[in-house]
Amino acid sequence: MPATALRCRVCETQFPLEPIGVCARCFGPLDPVYDRDEQRRTVTRESIAAGPQSIWRYASLLPVAPPREARLPAGWTPLIRARRLEDALGVGELWLKLDTANPTHSFKDRVVAVAAAKAIELGRTTIACSSTGNLANAVAARAAAEGLEAVVLCPADLEPEKLIATAVYGAKIFAVEGSYDDCSRLTVELSFELDWAFVNVELRAYYAEGSKTLGFEIAEQLGWELPDAVVAPIASGAMFSKVHQGFSELLELGLVSGTTPRLIGAQAEGCSPVATAFATGEKVKPVRPSTIARSLAIGSPADGELAVATARASGGSIYAVAEDEIVENISLLAETTGVFGETAPAVTLGALREAVRRGELGANDRVVLIVTGDGLKTPGLVAHKLDPTVVEPDADLILETLGVAV
Ligand SMILES: Cc1ncc(COP(=O)(O)O)c(C=O)c1O
Ligand SMILES: [Zn+2]
Repeated sequence: MPATALRCRVCETQFPLEPIGVCARCFGPLDPVYDRDEQRRTVTRESIAAGPQSIWRYASLLPVAPPREARLPAGWTPLIRARRLEDALGVGELWLKLDTANPTHSFKDRVVAVAAAKAIELGRTTIACSSTGNLANAVAARAAAEGLEAVVLCPADLEPEKLIATAVYGAKIFAVEGSYDDCSRLTVELSFELDWAFVNVELRAYYAEGSKTLGFEIAEQLGWELPDAVVAPIASGAMFSKVHQGFSELLELGLVSGTTPRLIGAQAEGCSPVATAFATGEKVKPVRPSTIARSLAIGSPADGELAVATARASGGSIYAVAEDEIVENISLLAETTGVFGETAPAVTLGALREAVRRGELGANDRVVLIVTGDGLKTPGLVAHKLDPTVVEPDADLILETLGVAV
């Protein structure tokens, strides 16, 4: 395991590989640092390919040792070409990264797998989080698989499917009468009092690294090539930034060549503090979310500035997508690709459409859109499409409704 320390992103102070949420000197966010020489010596395309079909094939690029026994493996999800949608949009090549294929149907299984491995190493028996829904599902399932307790804090008015898909694993749910940002503040306060492992508080540096595996997999599944652009949603901004970091690390290690893809970020208009900061050039200002994209409803994004910097450094952009377009995009994705995504990928598709409208993406580009979560968790938004033809159990009657003479 070549991680050597945690380092502050702001003042660069280093800390040991312990559960430390923020820099003790300046409260800046922390990232693991690695022995790159060791990685260059030992990590090859072949050594990765010989690993398991999960995020743990990249264990040498992650800040924790892989679990001794792989329970409920996350990652190594399909990357599929979406020819009908690429034709409809006018994009050269469009690939969908189907993170709906994870155990709890979102990319959050990746980040939780890494954080939980650290929690187990530390001997913790409870994993906990604040969540906009998907993270709660992933924490609850991981705890069940590993024999840990799970406690989650979610806004009380979340989609019921997401709360049920947490409760089923036996997790304790605090349905907080407030926003996600209230839940987040509560977990920080509680983390001083309880010996639970809060995956997105004191284990955040480990947790966030799990999203690098999305970048690793995209490159490996394209035959160790980098796409021209990747479109991904932004809530806290962690995943968006870490996908880019994943590509940069592959370049640094000589596992791929070329330049990092342009990173195009997506937020819903009703909660778009990062898109606004990108557009105005000002600092990210917290907002009170009001959006149907509940999984992205973080008004005070912890890694918002990093996401803006990532979009700029990669030559990409960040767009706010109209609330009306979100439901339309759930249908567009489903009807042209066979993929039923939740609101987050629908927002992501909106940013892709905007980038095409502006001529930023087009016929010469190979683009990957990350489908981070599953539409079966937010079915209410498309319930209006359910309009079946009710019939008696009689084939002649069915033929009659079809206008076929018998
Ligand atoms: C489906 C889905 N996509 C994207 C995100 C955004 O992730 P991040 O907070 O790392 O920006 C979330 C976060 O909850 C999510 O649930
Ligand atoms: Zn610092």
